[in-house]
Amino acid sequence: DPVRLAQYEAPNWLVEDVHLTFRLHPTATRVTSRIRFRPNPDSADRGFRLDGEDLKLLSASIDGRAVEPRIDAEGLSVDAPNDAFIWECEVEIDPKANTRLEGLYMSKGMYCTQCEAEGFRRITFYPDRPDVMAPFTVRIESDQPVMLSNGNPTASGDGWAEWHDPWPKPAYLFALVAGELRATSTTHRTSEGRDATLNVWVRPGDEDRTGYALDALKRSMEWDERVYGRAYDLEVFNLVAVDDFNMGAMENKGLNIFNSKYVLASPETATDRDYELIEGIVAHEYFHNWTGNRITCRDWFQLCLKEGLTVFRDKQFSGDVRGHAVKRIDDVLMLRARQFREDAGPLAHPVRPEEYVEINNFYTATVYEKGAEVIGMLRTLAGPEAYDRALTLYFDRHDGDAATIEDFFACFQEVTGNALTGFERWWSQAGTPRVTAVTHWSGDVLTLTLRQSTPATPGQPQKGPVWIPLATGVLSPDGKEVAPTQVLTLKTSEATFRLEGGIWRPSDGPAADPLPASVEPAPILSLNRGFSAPVILDRKVTDAERLILLAHDTDPFNRWEAGRQVAKEQLLRALDGGALDPAWFDALGRLVSDDSLEPAFRALALGLPSEDDIAQSLHDAGRTPDPARIHAIREDVLQGLAEAQAPLFRALVDALVTHGPYSPDAEAAGRRALRLRALDMLSRLDGGDAAAEVFATADNMTESLSALAILIRRGTGEAESGTFFTRWYDDPNTLDKWFSTVIGNAAPDEAVAVARRLTALPEFDPKTPNRFRSAVGALSANTAAFHHASGEGYRFLADWLIVLDPINPQTAARMTTAFETWRRYDGDRQGMMTDQLRRILATGPSRDVTEIATRLLGDAA
Ligand code: ARG
Ligand code: ZN
Repeated sequence: DPVRLAQYEAPNWLVEDVHLTFRLHPTATRVTSRIRFRPNPDSADRGFRLDGEDLKLLSASIDGRAVEPRIDAEGLSVDAPNDAFIWECEVEIDPKANTRLEGLYMSKGMYCTQCEAEGFRRITFYPDRPDVMAPFTVRIESDQPVMLSNGNPTASGDGWAEWHDPWPKPAYLFALVAGELRATSTTHRTSEGRDATLNVWVRPGDEDRTGYALDALKRSMEWDERVYGRAYDLEVFNLVAVDDFNMGAMENKGLNIFNSKYVLASPETATDRDYELIEGIVAHEYFHNWTGNRITCRDWFQLCLKEGLTVFRDKQFSGDVRGHAVKRIDDVLMLRARQFREDAGPLAHPVRPEEYVEINNFYTATVYEKGAEVIGMLRTLAGPEAYDRALTLYFDRHDGDAATIEDFFACFQEVTGNALTGFERWWSQAGTPRVTAVTHWSGDVLTLTLRQSTPATPGQPQKGPVWIPLATGVLSPDGKEVAPTQVLTLKTSEATFRLEGGIWRPSDGPAADPLPASVEPAPILSLNRGFSAPVILDRKVTDAERLILLAHDTDPFNRWEAGRQVAKEQLLRALDGGALDPAWFDALGRLVSDDSLEPAFRALALGLPSEDDIAQSLHDAGRTPDPARIHAIREDVLQGLAEAQAPLFRALVDALVTHGPYSPDAEAAGRRALRLRALDMLSRLDGGDAAAEVFATADNMTESLSALAILIRRGTGEAESGTFFTRWYDDPNTLDKWFSTVIGNAAPDEAVAVARRLTALPEFDPKTPNRFRSAVGALSANTAAFHHASGEGYRFLADWLIVLDPINPQTAARMTTAFETWRRYDGDRQGMMTDQLRRILATGPSRDVTEIATRLLGDAA
């Protein structure tokens, strides 16, 4: 049965404090707990139940007297006294057998934990819900040299260590690590004058790859003090890298645990993108210390309260350190590729879902990325100063609370005098709003009529209007800005605005008619600057207008966006057998060769919409995408562009060589990004000679890996692939790159065979999520290969999901979502995809996979 938001009830019992002792053993770890409970004044029910899963209960007592609880699959219950009491018990668990990687498990001989969302119940019996918060004292006994838990170290000796975390926290923030680990350390004096030791812990041999993460941590701490006035609050901050991990990282209080792929970096093994992700994720987890830990969530429906807000904060940080324009374009690319796609399919759900079967299935692009967009819109609507005041109020008022979205929003209402009433629908309504914009130019007055609608999503057939803040500028027909950015907010299903004297005002006049062709040249509108609202804009814009925006818009995001829209229209035209507009290649050439623009921006301008993006656009236009044809036509267009601008691409490859030692900074990374795009273009003319040269001489992973990908796409990378494998064979994170590059870039007709061959290698181990994602996930991301007409891509994925699910249901469920686009395609493909989903369901899979597969099938179940 699903859990429902509407059925929230306060806990019967609260926890005063918790004492845990771990006697670590690979297959028989003993955990004793001593928990002081007191009745919750907000609840009349004195029933006593604790969550617990896969635990062997050895003994239990209440106030020192042995009790015999009733145990079921999800926990235990026992008759409790009427007033405060002490619960003690001892359980045995088997970390080595824990391949789910939830609770206490082992990774390469190291003990570690993952408790969010509901993993703590696999460690001991406990009220495992975020609104039960308590200080924890932990004792670890083992023969491991390093033993860590949350909070501050209080004592240690031969074979034992004790930790105390004074900050009350929910069980999902509990963590323990024990193993042979080495630290790279520094100190940080907070703005409040306290000293903290910062440690990045890794396995022996990896110490030389920790510097960047440690530096990113220090910079994140300084940023949060400066920008949000939030300082760190313990004597130590530990960050541990683990190879076997279901997700990116986890913000456990004072003991962040990371997927090693988001910690370890050296120029030889990490790409520019890896460095950027490490910086962003270190910041994200650190920022959770205030948005997530000091203030946590009342229940899991409020997940976006900590995730949306923390993602928004990490994006602000990354923009500050790397440049806002390029960061915004990257973020919107990702939002559209993942969140818009989710919103358009059978898994669509609101930023705050109203029910779930398995909460792990709701760590989604919608909760994280759309959740962050919602915070961004609140900031745009309230203004930066009111935003700062609302956040300060939130931190002051709710420190130590398990809060709700309403609590957070109330702070905005208070500082704005209730100016935001009506905004709330953004977290209750699923689906991406469509906005149509129609302009009318009278010769001196510009009128803009905006209309919105949101398509039905599963369980939400009727939609209402949301508040849509559109940052808008106006250019003259010769490309001069005549009205600077102003935010027009569409609050109802339709509204008209009028531009007079350079200022937009709501217009009560009649709705504007479509722009008559005769009154040209009209001013040119630059709408939704900086992607101020996460919506799909639908507006008739001529190619000529787009080319002017591409050349002259003062808003870098919309400049890029204009180029993107032209590219998409050109690709759609080519798919229909039409000829490309030669002016497009020229305009692209001018932009890419414009040295006054940042190389990173020029690299983004050169990127064409992905095959998946084109497929979604066709589907939105009521057509059925053909993945093979999309792939072939897109490749033809790239070939045409390479031929039309050959000298430019040659010149860029030569001119953008980086001299001197590798540096991961944004400027250098941007130059490499542009050079590697040009190299890809050049490979379409020289058969890959230049790329082979780059592969042979590169001193950094960014260039090696891109060159390898280019060569594989050209079908000539055999030798280089072998070289790469031999060189990185015993480096797990780097070998993962080999799996994903070789499979992800293989030709549509060959990729499944390649993937089957690689997953048969002894180096492929489905128990390690990174390896599984690198191999199997790369095939589902290779659009034309996954959707191959033979159906073999679908079968390959399903075969492996069926293997993985009994091992690791969380990762299996996550990867099942690759089928979420099935309704876009033709009857044959729909049939083959739904057959695979039914085949998976017929194996009687985990709750995690059952929920996803069932929702994917919908009424086709
Ligand atoms: N809270 C972690 C983060 O965003 C992610 C935890 C994911 N948990 C899960 N069950 N999928 O930083
Ligand atoms: Zn997070």
